Amino acid sequence: MKESLPNVCDHIQMMPAYEPVTPAEVLARRLGFASKDIIKLDANENPYAPVEAVRHALAQTHNLNRYPDPQQRALREALSQYHALPVENILAGAGADELIDLLMRLFLQPGDAVVNCPPTFGMYAFDANLQGARVVDVYRRPDFSLDLPALEAVVEKECPKLLFLASPNNPDGSLLPCAELERLLALPVVVVLDEAYVEFAAPGCTMINEVPRRSNLVVLRTFSKWAGLAGLRVGYGVFPAWMMEHLWKMKQPYNLSVAGSVAAVVSIEHADALCCFASRIVAERERFYKEVQKVPWLFPFPSQANFILCHVKGRDARTVRQRLAERGILVRYFDKPRLENSIRISIGTPDQMDALLAALLEMN
Ligand SMILES: Cc1ncc(COP(=O)(O)O)c(C=O)c1O
Repeated sequence: MKESLPNVCDHIQMMPAYEPVTPAEVLARRLGFASKDIIKLDANENPYAPVEAVRHALAQTHNLNRYPDPQQRALREALSQYHALPVENILAGAGADELIDLLMRLFLQPGDAVVNCPPTFGMYAFDANLQGARVVDVYRRPDFSLDLPALEAVVEKECPKLLFLASPNNPDGSLLPCAELERLLALPVVVVLDEAYVEFAAPGCTMINEVPRRSNLVVLRTFSKWAGLAGLRVGYGVFPAWMMEHLWKMKQPYNLSVAGSVAAVVSIEHADALCCFASRIVAERERFYKEVQKVPWLFPFPSQANFILCHVKGRDARTVRQRLAERGILVRYFDKPRLENSIRISIGTPDQMDALLAALLEMN
C-alpha cells in the first residue's frame, strides 16, 4: 500500500534555512583547539561574563521545578522602572528573536508585504518567510545609510504592514538618524526599531521613550549583547498599547524562563557595572578601528555597535576567515550584495583583539 503522508507547507519548502554560526566547541574540536583557546569574534557576543551577582542569584534559584510567571511581572516591573516606561507597554521574550517572530505572526498573512533594508539582521527576512509573507528589500546605500525616497515609494506601492530597521545596524554598526526615523514614522506602516546594540552607541541614541507617544513605533532590546546573557535568551520590546492585548494572547505562556528572568532582573540591578563593561568594549572598538587601518587590505566601517565590518580588498575574505580560524580566531564572513568579500569582527577583550591584529598583520 502506498504510504500517504501530508505535504509540508509550500512556503516552508521554498524558504532558505537560516545559517547560524557554528558553536565554538564544535569548531574547536574541528580545528584541534581546546574550547578555552578559541577567540570567538563571530556572533557579536559580549566577551565578558555576566556580572558575578547573576551567577550568585542563579545558584540561589530554587524554583527551577516550577513554571515561570507567564506575565513576567518581576522583569517587566524592573524594566518599567529602569526605562521610566509604563509596565503595560513592555513584553519580554526568549531573546529579541522571539519578539520579531511574534510581530510577524501578529501582522502578516500569506502574501502580505514586509519591508527589509539589507544588508541587515537575517532574522527579519527569515521570520517573514516563515509566515509566507512577501519580503520587499530596499537595499541600503554603499555607506549603509537608508534610501529614504525608495522606502517612501515602496510603502506607497506595496502597502507593507511592517518595516524593520536595526539601529545600530548589524552588520555595519551605523545608526539611524532621528530625522530619518521621523520621516519613516510618518508613513502608514508599523516601524520596528531593533536597538539590540544601542548600549554601545553614543548616549541618547535610543528612541525607546518615544513608544508611548507614537502609535506605529515598536522598539526591541536584548540582554544578549550589553548584559552578556546571550545563552539565557532574554529580550524585550516596548509596544504601543493597542498591540499589547493581542501579543498577550499570542505569546507562549512560559516563553521567559525562570533562569532568564532572574538573570535579567539582577543585570538591571547592576546596570552601572554593565555599562562600565560596555564602555570598555566601546573603548576597545575605537582602538581596534584605528589599529586595523594598519592592515593595508582591510577597510573598516565606523561602528556604533560591538563589532566592526571590514571590506577586504586585493585578497579573498573567505581565505582570511579560514586562516584566522586555523589560529583559533573566529570572525564572520560575508559575500552578498553590499557585503562582497567582507568580514565582520566582534569586539573582544584587548588581549583577544591584540591576538587578532597580530594575526592580520602577519598575513601581509
Ligand atoms: C540586530 C539584532 N537584533 C536582534 C538580535 C538577536 O537578539 P537576541 O539574542 O535577543 O535574540 C541580534 C543578534 O545578533 C541582532 O543582531
